[in-house]
Amino acid sequence: MRTLIDELPASKIREVANAAMGRGDVLAFWFGESDEPTPQFIRDAAARSIADGETFYSHNLGLTELREAIAGYASALHPCVDSARIAVTSSGVSALMLAMQALVGAGDEVVAVVPVWPNLTAQPAILGAHVTRFALRPEPDGAWRLDVEALKRAVTDRTRVLLVNSPNNPTGWTLTRAEQQALLAHCRSTGTWIVADEVYERIFFAGGEHGACAPSFLDIATADDRLIVVHSFSKSFLMTGWRLGWLVLPAGMAPSLAKLIEFNTSCAPVFVQRAGLAALARADGFVPGLVARLKACRDTLLPRLHALPGVQVATPPGGLYAFFRAPGSDDSLSFAKRLVESAGVGLAPGAAFGAEGEGWLRWCFASHDPRRLEVGVDRLATFLAL
Ligand SMILES: Cc1ncc(COP(=O)(O)O)c(C=O)c1O
Repeated sequence: MRTLIDELPASKIREVANAAMGRGDVLAFWFGESDEPTPQFIRDAAARSIADGETFYSHNLGLTELREAIAGYASALHPCVDSARIAVTSSGVSALMLAMQALVGAGDEVVAVVPVWPNLTAQPAILGAHVTRFALRPEPDGAWRLDVEALKRAVTDRTRVLLVNSPNNPTGWTLTRAEQQALLAHCRSTGTWIVADEVYERIFFAGGEHGACAPSFLDIATADDRLIVVHSFSKSFLMTGWRLGWLVLPAGMAPSLAKLIEFNTSCAPVFVQRAGLAALARADGFVPGLVARLKACRDTLLPRLHALPGVQVATPPGGLYAFFRAPGSDDSLSFAKRLVESAGVGLAPGAAFGAEGEGWLRWCFASHDPRRLEVGVDRLATFLAL
């Protein structure tokens, strides 16, 4: 085994979850998914496809009709995206890995905005790249902020890739349009690629000038920019278990990605792609309702968390998570283990997202039943009062 692989840290979220294995009384908020299953119309499309015998390989880049549907979906939210720039992938995490494989090799420098879902920084490290962590900073109100000027200084002409996830898992921090413009202009000047993980773009509650979508690099970049945008069906369509995502590539790059996909998964399963087609066909009827339900979850959890003595938390503008500190949470892993063992509340320790997240806890608020969140806060309150 390569030493580098041996040294990869095991998931601290799993470590907490494993400590509570087999217990029926635990309210689990540790993973980044809702407890609501995939909508029936999407499941039906997959079942029909299997019944029709669609059990064969597809084109490496995905079914033509799905690439066209994704391009249409993206073009309704952003300036026009040509279907030739779309690559269908077997999940968002695979899309991220493909982007990294396409861009970085041993010794290349990647600057990653952190804290962040650990897969983003592990992938370039697996490829032998050197990952420089650039930290967002928490404000006294619990919101996380980016020092754009300092990030621009950290990204130089030696930086191959700037990796940024917005809306961010775990903090909820979301890039503003002005910050995106500054970063794009800077990366153009240094020749740095931007890999933008925008899997939570629809899970954005601030609405306003951008409507149903967080600010995206696709709104300001051209098809010739060194920009790869990573997407997933997991979050906006409740399809975490299906493993379906996509990449928006610069013009002309798709044939190279087709080769890489061949060597990774060859293609996404056709019946899963059919499910994706069904999801996109009814996106306008489904996604706004989902976002409204998630907003109700957020607005159930946040004021209650905020009201607990000593808890530091800000209302996230996007994403599925409340990220907070509590009295005694300086060692977030041991706090999360004690919390699940004695109070039956399962949270993700902030340390799982890097040293920058230490002392914080992530609570996924996506639930079909907001009352679960209320019970969870009651249990946390009792635990903190002990
Ligand atoms: C920031 C971020 N990017 C990408 C993904 C990948 O999603 P999936 O592999 O389920 O498509 C996740 C999942 O939690 C995530 O939080």
